[in-house]
Amino acid sequence: MDIFDKCNKFTQAREAIRAGYYPYFKPIQTAQAPEVRINGERKIVCCSNNYLGLTVDPRVKRACIDAIRKYGTSCTGSRFLSGSLELHERVEQKFAKFIGKESAILFTTGHHSNLGTISALTTKGEVIITDKLDHASIIDGCRLSYAEMVRFKHNDMNDLERVLIRYKDVNKLIVVDGVFSMEGDIINLPEVIRLAKKYNARVMVDDAHSLGVLGKNGKGTAEHFGIDPNDVDIIMVTASKSLASIGGLIAADEKVIHYIKHFARSMIYTASLPPAQVAAIDMSLNIIISEPERRERLWRNVKKMADGFRALGYNIRNSQSAIIPIIIGDETKVLIMWRALYDEGVFCSPVVSPAVPEGESLIRTSYMAIHTDEQLDYVLNAFEKVGKKLGVIPGTYRPKPVKPRMRRFISRMRIGAYKMKMFSKRIAKRYLWFGER
Ligand SMILES: Cc1ncc(COP(=O)(O)O)c(C=O)c1O
Repeated sequence: MDIFDKCNKFTQAREAIRAGYYPYFKPIQTAQAPEVRINGERKIVCCSNNYLGLTVDPRVKRACIDAIRKYGTSCTGSRFLSGSLELHERVEQKFAKFIGKESAILFTTGHHSNLGTISALTTKGEVIITDKLDHASIIDGCRLSYAEMVRFKHNDMNDLERVLIRYKDVNKLIVVDGVFSMEGDIINLPEVIRLAKKYNARVMVDDAHSLGVLGKNGKGTAEHFGIDPNDVDIIMVTASKSLASIGGLIAADEKVIHYIKHFARSMIYTASLPPAQVAAIDMSLNIIISEPERRERLWRNVKKMADGFRALGYNIRNSQSAIIPIIIGDETKVLIMWRALYDEGVFCSPVVSPAVPEGESLIRTSYMAIHTDEQLDYVLNAFEKVGKKLGVIPGTYRPKPVKPRMRRFISRMRIGAYKMKMFSKRIAKRYLWFGER
C-alpha cells in the first residue's frame, strides 16, 4: 500500500484529455477579455467573472504599473507582520465606506477570507448554518471551524427556519451567497435577516458575484433589496471578479474586524496581497463608483442573453444576475455540448457534480459589460446550432447512422464510474451522431 495509490488509479481525467473532452486548465494566450486565443484559435468568452470588463481597462493597468514602481512586486510577508502597506489600508477604508460598514480587512484571496473569517468567529458548541448551494470556500471555512455546520435547502426559508428552531439556544452564524455562483439566482436576503433577528443569529453574505453588479450603485445584495447594510453583520466580496484583481474583503463592525485581524489564520499565516493587485482593486472601486453606465451596459447584455436563451427554448432556471446557467442535467451531455460549443468558437464552463447536485449539470455562462452585440449574437447562434444538434432544444437535426469503427471506438471508451461517467456504452449509443462529426 502506498499513499500515492490513489494517484495511480485516477485515470478519468487522462482519458478525457486523450479523447479531447477535457474542459479544464485551458491555457489562454491573451488577456481576460470578451475574445481570447486558446491554442491559436479565437474564442468568445462567456465564462469570465470579469463582469465590468476592468481587467483590460487602461486606468487599472496603469495603477498596477505605478504601484509596482512605488512599492515593488511583493510584500513578502503577512499583513500581521511586515506585509501591510498604506495601500492596503486605503483600499480597506474605501471599501468599508462604499459598502456602508464601519471597517474592513483585505485578505489575499476570497477563498482565504471565507476560511479565515468563518473559522475565526465560530467555535465548538456553536453552529454555522449554510445554504446547500453555498460556495466551496464557505464550506471549507466551516470545515476549519470547530463549530457544527448545518445546511438548509437552497433558498428555502421554511427550511432555514426549521434549522434555526432546532438550534434556538445555540450561538448561530448564517452564511449565504448573495448571488449563487453556478445558478445565478439571488438569496432571499430580507427573509434571511428577518429570521436571523427572530432567532438571534448573525448573518454573513458572500457578495463575490454581486459587487459591481447588483444594486443601483453596485454595492451588492443588500442594496439590491434596499436593506440597510448594518442589518447584514458581515459582507464578504472577492476582488477576483468585478474588481479585476485578486483578494478578498470582509466588511463588518470595527470590533468584529479587529477580532478577525487577530484570529484569522488564513490572513496571519500567509503573505499579503501584492501592491499591483491592491492598486487594481483601488482603481476598480473608483471606476465602479464613478461609472454606473458600465453596470447599465452589463445588465443590457445580460437581458439580451437571457431573452435570447429563453427564446431558443433553453432552461435558464431563475437566473437573476450576470450568471446564466444553461440547465442540461446529464453530465455526459454537458461535456459533449461544451466541446461542440468550444469547436464553434465559444468558451464557456461545464459544471458537473459535485459543483452542482448530481443530475443537475449545466453549462455556466456569464457576461461582461464590454461584450459587443456581435459577440453575443455569435454566442446565441452557436448555442442554437449545437443545442438543436444535441436535441437539447427543439430543432430539425436528424442524426445520421454512425460508422461501425467509430461506434466500436466510442463503446470502448470508458471514463470510469466516478462522477465523469462519459462515454459508457449507454451514453455512447445515445449520442451516436457524435461519431459523424
Ligand atoms: C461565491 C464565491 N465566494 C468566494 C469565492 C472565492 O474567491 P477567490 O477566487 O477570490 O478566491 C468565489 C470564487 O469563485 C465565489 O464564487
